[in-house]
Amino acid sequence: MERDFENDNVEALTFKNSSDKPHQAKLWVVASGKGGVGKTFVSSSLGLTLSKLGHSVVVVDLDLSGANVHTVYGMNPSHMNIRHFFEGVKTLQELVIPTQFSRLSYVQGFWDSWTPIDFSMAQIENLVPQLKSLRADYVIVDLGAGALEPHLNLFRAADEKFLVTTPEPTSIEKTYRFIESYVCHSLKENATPDAYGNMISTLRSHRQRTLAKPFSFRSYLKDQTGIHYDFFENLTTSPVRLIVNSARSQTECDLGHSMKSVCNKYYDLGLDFLSSIDYDNAVWQSVKGREHVLIAQPFTPLAGQFLATCKQLIAPEELRAVV
Ligand SMILES: Nc1ncnc2c1ncn2[C@@H]1O[C@H](COP(=O)(O)OP(=O)(O)OP(=O)(O)O)[C@@H](O)[C@H]1O
Ligand SMILES: [Mg+2]
Repeated sequence: MERDFENDNVEALTFKNSSDKPHQAKLWVVASGKGGVGKTFVSSSLGLTLSKLGHSVVVVDLDLSGANVHTVYGMNPSHMNIRHFFEGVKTLQELVIPTQFSRLSYVQGFWDSWTPIDFSMAQIENLVPQLKSLRADYVIVDLGAGALEPHLNLFRAADEKFLVTTPEPTSIEKTYRFIESYVCHSLKENATPDAYGNMISTLRSHRQRTLAKPFSFRSYLKDQTGIHYDFFENLTTSPVRLIVNSARSQTECDLGHSMKSVCNKYYDLGLDFLSSIDYDNAVWQSVKGREHVLIAQPFTPLAGQFLATCKQLIAPEELRAVV
């Protein structure tokens, strides 16, 4: 347990830092290829579980298409929301709103903007340090769906990267598209614009010939250009954590294992199959009842799955001891 903020109002907190180093919250970012697969449910549940484990958490709603985090926590929308940060009116810390749960706060997403919203690169560069300097042990970002450029930038900056899929073919297909976009985004970060342009057109022409058949980006680029691209190594150092949500059978739970082997084999990406979360009608029923399912039903298999997931990430040695 890192810090105990029980009964503290986060806004009133004076953050104590014993070392001289500036405080850095751990940044967890939750993304998905397809919409409606459970990102908000997963983000809100990770937040609640970490807070129950004694950690202070801020969940930041960064879904540009509309805010939902407040809804799943049973809160009314606030006039104080992330729009004020992007307009330069408030710092991110000033937008943190406490919930009724100890140690758990959130930043309300967009809900009063009727014009299309997009992040600029400069805004993202400013946002990441502010996310990490929020007064909390963990900051969890709930993103909108899809591999948009700002999503990929935030995903790369995260200490833990979560990719949520359901077992449906439409979601699996979009999860692979997200992964490919993430791999290409990493190539872009590490290559000159010309080299990146060449790599993408080489990959695209091969994709057009082979269609849905997966192929190793690294091997194909090496065969075509004769160059060994070192930056593929970086993709294995900070793994993407796959969560299969709404699983209804053992076969659906096991889907994560096959997705992991595809990613390791073809994309040279460190993909970790973190957990599968059961489908449970209580999830959407509790949203309707405005009480989060982990609060309404704290002792279900679902709650156990989030507990195991969090423990695995915050204290891996504890889990190894019981396996
Ligand atoms: N494990 C589950 N069991 C049953 N229902 C679930 C589960 N996970 C999510 N749901 C339900 O699925 C719907 C979509 O979930 P959620 O809003 O979390 O998805 P999302 O990925 O955040 O969507 P969006 O892309 O629109 O932001 C909601 O009605 C939610 O209650
Ligand atoms: Mg959502």
